[in-house]
Parts: sequence; structure tokens; C-alpha cells
Amino acid sequence: MSSNPQYLSGNEIRNIFLDFFAQRNHQILPSASLVPEDPTVLLTIAGMLPFKPIFLGQRTPEFKRATTSQKCIRTNDIENVGRTKRHQTFFEMLGNFSFGDYFKEQAIAWGWEISTQVFGFSPENLVVSVFEDDDEAFGIWRDQIGVPVARIKRLGEDDNFWASGPTGPCGPSSEIYYDFHPERGDENIDLEDDSRFIEFYNLVFMQYNRDASGNLTPLQNKNIDTGMGLERMAQILQKVPNNYETDLIFPIIQTAGQIAGVDYHSSDEKTKVSLKVIGDHIRAVIHMIADEIRASNVGRGYVLRRLIRRVVRHGRLIGISGEFTTQVAETAIALSESAYPNVRQREAAIKAELQREESNFLRTLDRGEKLLEEIIQEVKQQGETQISGESAFSLYDTYG
Ligand code: ALA
Repeated sequence: MSSNPQYLSGNEIRNIFLDFFAQRNHQILPSASLVPEDPTVLLTIAGMLPFKPIFLGQRTPEFKRATTSQKCIRTNDIENVGRTKRHQTFFEMLGNFSFGDYFKEQAIAWGWEISTQVFGFSPENLVVSVFEDDDEAFGIWRDQIGVPVARIKRLGEDDNFWASGPTGPCGPSSEIYYDFHPERGDENIDLEDDSRFIEFYNLVFMQYNRDASGNLTPLQNKNIDTGMGLERMAQILQKVPNNYETDLIFPIIQTAGQIAGVDYHSSDEKTKVSLKVIGDHIRAVIHMIADEIRASNVGRGYVLRRLIRRVVRHGRLIGISGEFTTQVAETAIALSESAYPNVRQREAAIKAELQREESNFLRTLDRGEKLLEEIIQEVKQQGETQISGESAFSLYDTYG
């Protein structure tokens, strides 16, 4: 028998998580800016980033335990957005943190409790992974929690050793996966199979510092850093096939669909991908601008420009001819403002930045399209069938 947990909205999931840990003496802290204090990273990529100096022993924490819902951006897999069930550039990471206070045993116990007792996942729907050498974590899952050994997987460094970058705080981790098809049995569990499994909660046993030559030295304290994917939880609890169809993103897709005159559910795959890209990227864009990032050709400003341009391009691909980004941004702001009031406070700046970038880019695209026409005519007149690499590069690089 598999479980049938009840529907929860994204906002409910966030509040339930934070309340659970607040009741266990964690201080609820607001999300930090997407612009990190840490100069070695461009954008906030995980819930732990604001706490890095604490883990490294460079800053004394005000509280021994904290819990947050942290807005994050990761663009390393940007091409996968819209194409897989769950790649996103912008996402919220729910986390509980211990700064030299509780460690492995307690983090695992609470991880299990919130998953099963609070979110209502049946143990049959859960599989856990541990770092290959971590016999202690394996033992806790087996002996204290009672997870059958067939459902505790030992994985290597790529999956179960977490670090925020090539150097800095890191440690072995243990992840909790939701199994949509427990009836397929325990014999052939492949956690990479995303038609069956989704990883939703990562518990990191933050206990080492890695230096530039790759050496690990124990941190002053043993810490806990966790990350639960809000959109992934919403996907599971709302019983939708991917992150984009959750209440956190889908209304944006509907707005874009209305502007384009297309209906998501009856669209072909290509249109769906474009709608999902728009739904994902515009969330990143509103939060980046709210956090004072301006579009430019360098650093995080370039990340922002690229995201806006991709929104515009995918709008064109689904048949939107005019400007539309402020309309989809409005839906994204309305969805986010209760948890992040600064997106409404910065509404004027967000819309002005979008309008400027969009109209500039549309002009560039128009010029590019005219240029492409000319190049094609020229090539045809010369009796050839291919445009030169140089022209192709210029079209791509200069004209988007
Ligand atoms: N820092 C860990 C992660 O991002 C929890 O997955």
C-alpha cells in the first residue's frame, strides 16, 4: 500500500517546514539576498551559503539552530530547464541548520519525522541514500529508524558528498527520495530513474573544510546543513508530473499561454518546453532585479540579461510578437509577494528593467532576422546551400 498524502500549496509547505523546526528551537531567519556576501560565488546557490562563515568558524552564530526558506539560483544546467521534470534556475530551498549543536542522529530522526508524520509520506514510498563509507548513517537509518536495508543505498562522492564549491565546508550527505512506484520492488532500485524517484531532502553532515589542494581537515564543529526542495515537495504533494505544473509556477505558464493564445495541456512538446522555460526564468528574473541586480554584459548582470533574452526568445517561439515580459512578471510577483514582499516593493524597478531589456532585444532580434534574410538571399544567388560559419556566429552572438 502506498501513501496518499494530502494536497498542500507551496505556501503551506514552506510554513509547515519552518514551523516544525521552530517548534524544535530553530530560529526562523529570512531568506538572504540572491547576491551573496561571499565574493567567491556569483549567486546564492544553496540555503547554506549565508552560513558559510559560521561553518568555517569565522563568525560566531547568534543561534545554534536556524531554519530558512532560501531563494536560490543555479544556471549550470540551464539547457535542461523545461526539458526534464525538475530542472530550474530559480528554486526555494527549505533548510534546518545546526551550528555545532545536534548532528547526524537528530538530523536523520527529524528528517524522517517531518517526511512521514508531517507531510504524510508512507515509509513504503521512501528510499534513502548514504555516502558509501558512512556506516554510521547507514546504521541510524537501519536500526533507529527501521528502514529496510534494501531501501538504504550507498552512493559515491558525486551523489552523497556535498560541497558548495571546490574549496570550503563540505561533508558526506544522506538523501531522502520519494518512490512513486514502490510496487516495482526493492530488487532493482535505480535512484537515477526519474520516472520512479525524486530526491527531495538532502541532509549534509558538514564536518570538513576542503583546501585548494583537495585536502580535508575537520571543521571546528560538526554541523548540519539540509536542503528540501520546495518545488519538488509541491510536485509530490500536488500530484503533478513535474515542478512546472505546481501552484508555484503554473499560473505564470497560464499567463504566457493566454498571451500566446495557446493552451498548455493541449500543446505539443516544443510549446510546452517554451512555456516551462518562461515560467521558470521569469521567477529568477523578478527576484534578481528585486535584489538589485541590473542586466549587463558581465557577471550576475549577464546571467540576468541571458535569462530575460531566453524568456523573450521562447515567447517568440510560441507566437508572441509584441512585448509581454511585464505581464508574466506580474503573475510571478503576485505568486511570490506573500513570502517575499520585496518583489512587490520593487515592482516598478522590475518592470522598467524588463521593458528596457525586452525592447532592446526585440530590436536586435528584428535586425538579426533581416540580416538572416539577406544572407540567405546572397547564398542562394551564389548557388550555395549553406551559410558561412562566420555569418552563423555573428547571427548567434550579436543578434541573439
Ligand atoms: N547544501 C545542501 C544542498 O544544497 C543541503 O543540497
